[in-house]
Amino acid sequence: MLAKTYGSAVYGVDAHIITIEVNVSTGTKFFMVGLPDSAVKESEHRVESALKQNGFSMPRQKVIVNLAPADIKKEGSSYDLPIAIGILAASAQIDVPNLEEYLIMGELALDGSIRPIKGALPIAIEARKKGFKGLILPKENASEAAIVDNLQVLGADNLLQAVRHLTGFELIEPLEYDTRDMFQTHINEYEADFANVQGQENIKRSLEIAAAGGHNVIMIGPPGAGKTMLAKRLPSILPPLSLQESLETTKIHSVAGHLKEHASLIASRPFRAPHHTISDVALVGGGGIPQPGEISLANNGVLFLDELPEFKRAVLEVMRQPLEERKVTISRAKISIDFPANFMLIASMNPCPCGYYNHPEKECVCAPGVVQKYLNKVSGPLLDRIDLHVEVTPVSFDQLSADRKTESSEEIRKRVIEARLIQEERFKDQPEIYNNAMMNSQMVKSMCQINQAGKALLKTAMEKLGLSARAYDRILKVSRTIADLAGKEDIQIEHLAEAIQYRSLDRDGWAS
Ligand SMILES: Nc1ncnc2c1ncn2[C@@H]1O[C@H](COP(=O)(O)OP(=O)(O)OP(=O)(O)O)[C@@H](O)[C@H]1O
Ligand SMILES: [Mg+2]
Ligand SMILES: [Zn+2]
Repeated sequence: MLAKTYGSAVYGVDAHIITIEVNVSTGTKFFMVGLPDSAVKESEHRVESALKQNGFSMPRQKVIVNLAPADIKKEGSSYDLPIAIGILAASAQIDVPNLEEYLIMGELALDGSIRPIKGALPIAIEARKKGFKGLILPKENASEAAIVDNLQVLGADNLLQAVRHLTGFELIEPLEYDTRDMFQTHINEYEADFANVQGQENIKRSLEIAAAGGHNVIMIGPPGAGKTMLAKRLPSILPPLSLQESLETTKIHSVAGHLKEHASLIASRPFRAPHHTISDVALVGGGGIPQPGEISLANNGVLFLDELPEFKRAVLEVMRQPLEERKVTISRAKISIDFPANFMLIASMNPCPCGYYNHPEKECVCAPGVVQKYLNKVSGPLLDRIDLHVEVTPVSFDQLSADRKTESSEEIRKRVIEARLIQEERFKDQPEIYNNAMMNSQMVKSMCQINQAGKALLKTAMEKLGLSARAYDRILKVSRTIADLAGKEDIQIEHLAEAIQYRSLDRDGWAS
């Protein structure tokens, strides 16, 4: 007898439907065909044990399991459950008239309990798209999948529970999730606030600009100047995630298997701060079964690289392309997979090994040439891709001890949100663009126009600072954001001038 169940394979952040055909006929052997990897092949043993432990049996006949389409590689152990149910149906141990209305995924333990899977959210999205009525999956992954509406999300603890639901013996209550108010509850939940940073008004200003337009920032300054402290407060002034952004980000974390048990939508922007010993695969993604790296986990949020020159140069270089394209492409023999990597980079560094180069009071003790060499650890093309270069000097003891009340993150965030609303309006015909930093050259030309005086200023700056064409576009985007923060329709000369001053590391004069 032939039975059909449906499962799913996840590539990158998208799921594809896999048909599992089980045929039981006269003979004796078990065959699995359709490009399964070794973990899928071992399914036979897990399934056999799980069936036995729950009062069923593996048919003592010829069993053929075909996973289709054959050209998609099936990986991992999460096909156990649809295979087991297919075998039960094909050997007439259960009778499920509407089996084809369900997409089923889950790994079986030997006793028949169901273990969590990766990628439940993309699987649920695809299941709804293809018109399935229900999705049976591990209970731990149910809340992740329940974001998707018009789909019965059925979390099962074990094989028996899934079987009882399918045969109509005892129904599982579908999990429903209301996304309406979850974004409200997360706002204002920050441990660190700009209110307890004394002084540093210019740095706060540059971080406000960065947050408002989604720009990349590098902070350069001596030890103890407050770089790490300032960077850690960036999340507190970021605009809230839109539902669209949240779905994109949650999908990536779902694929990476990073969502906490019973977690659903990611409601606040990710802030990823990998250590400088990170490998290039962990940073940009990759591996045998391609997994998203830190830059993708930071999608629609922030990637913080503290002490930038300490990262291996090769690791930093692999970031160049994704920084430009806002996605990372991982190529494998048969397919290539894209992971979104639309993140805002915030980096920090000391100006030299001793840390005191250019310090107002302390003397730099580095040998000549060492300063330049230190800076060179971060390549020009990478610095080019960073919109705002800010020099952080420590605040004086008097200022530190004054303990004056300074502006809170909430007040700054209000202005950031205002500026984002202007951008939302600007990009309403470009649904894939969320902020000024994401504009391409074409859009910069049409949306960042400057007058004659502005052009003259920019020309002088380009020549004097030796700026690249990329830096030119970045200056225009940053000026656009500065004008948005000021609520001005046109980019004015002072907006441009402020943007130019954030290119200090391009200057040939730095450290020479
Ligand atoms: N402007 C400030 N207001 C209040 N506290 C400050 C300020 N600047 C520095 N501090 C204090 O100094 C500590 C050191 O700052 P932080 O670790 O951020 O420096 P850093 O620039 O990252 O130094 P390093 O280069 O050594 O990593 C902070 O934890 C904070 O207690
Ligand atoms: Mg630090
Ligand atoms: Zn030095």
